[in-house]
Amino acid sequence: MAIIDSATRVLAGSIGVHDLDWRSQKGEIGYWVVRELRGLGVATRALRLLSRWALRDLGLARLELLADVRNVPSHRVAESAGFVREGVLRSARVVKDARCDMALYSLVRADLEGAAPPDR
Ligand SMILES: CC(C)(COP(=O)(O)OP(=O)(O)OC[C@H]1O[C@@H](n2cnc3c(N)ncnc32)[C@H](O)[C@@H]1OP(=O)(O)O)[C@@H](O)C(=O)NCCC(=O)NCCS
Repeated sequence: MAIIDSATRVLAGSIGVHDLDWRSQKGEIGYWVVRELRGLGVATRALRLLSRWALRDLGLARLELLADVRNVPSHRVAESAGFVREGVLRSARVVKDARCDMALYSLVRADLEGAAPPDR
């Protein structure tokens, strides 16, 4: 999905659920934000909205988020949106031609029980 600035209609970034596994009702979330609009809370807000929609309305029970262990801003985004860090997957992805360790975060349906829906 595109992340659009509602006032200017400018593209702010992208976010999506991929690697959907309907048998286990799980998927993985990925995102990026254009350089000029980073640090303003765009990714955190988009992640909060998409993850709640995926767990409450789409029918998924578990969302995973993998971030390079060195990608501290992405860790902050995941944690601010309520994702729980489960551990590190060693040598799990290739980033810029090098194998790297990935921090694994998750949000599950039960995490949202009793929580208010996010602002629209
Ligand atoms: C990671 C990314 C999506 C963050 O987008 P964003 O809209 O700037 O994120 P937010 O503004 O919602 O939050 C950024 C958080 O990182 C923190 N942060 C930013 N730069 C940081 C740095 N160098 N060191 C530590 N924390 C940093 C901010 O303080 C903020 O945390 P806070 O809310 O606790 O203050 C963006 O940097 C990006 O597109 N990076 C390239 C693609 C990428 O890494 N995608 C994620 C793959 S898992």
